[in-house]
Amino acid sequence: MTDLSLPETPEAPAVAEDGVWLRCIECGHEHAPFDDIVYTCEECDSLLEARYDRYPTFDEFAGRGVWRYSAALPFEEGVTLPEGDTPLHRVPRLEDDVGVRTLRVKHEGMNPTGSFKDRGMTVGVRVAAELGVGRLACASTGNTSAALAAYGARADLETLVLLPAGKVAAGKVAQASLHGARILEVDGNFDACLDVVQNLADRGEAYLLNSLNPFRLEGQKTIGLEILEEFRDDYGRFPDRIVLPVGNAGNTAALYKCFRELVAAGELEPDEVPKLTGVQAEGAAPMVEAIESGAEDTERWAEVETIATAIRIGNPVNAPKALPGIRETGGTAVAVSDDEITDAQRALAHEGVGVEPASAASVAGLRKLRSEGVVGDDEDVVCLTTGHLLKDPDAAAAAGNDPEPVANSTEAVLEHLGIAATAER
Ligand code: F0G
Repeated sequence: MTDLSLPETPEAPAVAEDGVWLRCIECGHEHAPFDDIVYTCEECDSLLEARYDRYPTFDEFAGRGVWRYSAALPFEEGVTLPEGDTPLHRVPRLEDDVGVRTLRVKHEGMNPTGSFKDRGMTVGVRVAAELGVGRLACASTGNTSAALAAYGARADLETLVLLPAGKVAAGKVAQASLHGARILEVDGNFDACLDVVQNLADRGEAYLLNSLNPFRLEGQKTIGLEILEEFRDDYGRFPDRIVLPVGNAGNTAALYKCFRELVAAGELEPDEVPKLTGVQAEGAAPMVEAIESGAEDTERWAEVETIATAIRIGNPVNAPKALPGIRETGGTAVAVSDDEITDAQRALAHEGVGVEPASAASVAGLRKLRSEGVVGDDEDVVCLTTGHLLKDPDAAAAAGNDPEPVANSTEAVLEHLGIAATAER
């Protein structure tokens, strides 16, 4: 049975190194973190979680970016570009339109490679250096590959990325390419790519940096820490709800771990934990299905399709960590159509916040849940936007205004704009 509870006073087992170890979320088996390379439990193959012999408190955090939170991470510093410190935008018109007490948008697209993946990579690539591996690899819908390529380049390590052919947005492929990753385009979807990369990793051919790697999620916890600190500074309270797009469900799992550790530290009351609310595209919604049916794990969707290619995923590997997170925090999950995603992308853009389609799913989901009355008008909500507009220039251009051809003269421009010609000044 999944056990994500944290002991009141954590005691390091014999396998721990510097107060850090890995624990299986199903059978509780404990593993050394940096001795052997291990991704899943050696006893039962279930997911692992990083554990520490202490819990972090807010007063320990100092400095900037992800490494401000080193008290909650396995190392003091990492391979950094630097990442984190993303804006928590105010969006007054959207807030009015949705009709909640507070709406803030945490724009993770403002990280160095344009997505939240950088937070996981700064930690994951630091661990790779500790392990002394030579080749890093990931399967990706695009953003993970861009981040891995950049952080791998920074660490001077070889990087290999497997992408679903024809289904990755142009900006992301360009990033992976220029940062020097070897890009393998696979005739299959993301889930098929991940199956292959996992096999490569099991054979010792590469170090896996997908969110199956528990250390990636440690870095991504810092999204939650930044949101809670800034929201509390601005309003003197924590948000009621965090709404986020869900693909592999790594971020959902990471935020839940962030909250559990703060509760264990006595920094957050159990009734102050924000409700984790996941949003998927209708064409790729196994998590929504599992939340609705009450299942403990997701059923793999063989066919997936959505304009939000970043979350075009049918087999969310972190579901066993993320489903309890949604349930225990009193959150929910909802599916939105591609049209609803595009509308939300435009609404964010009209507030000056440029995001890729998957990111806009959070706002689309909030709108839907608000219209259904699931989200109340008295709630303080933070929507996570996970990737930058320029990641997917084709989607942005299709959702926005079309360029208008015009002849090369002031008269022609005035005429085109419908402005009457006046005598020359
Ligand atoms: N939003 C964006 C922009 C993403 O790139 C991803 C995941 C998600 C949301 C979903 O996050 O997996 O933690 O639930 N992208 C991965 C990739 C799969 O390969 O870039 P999740």
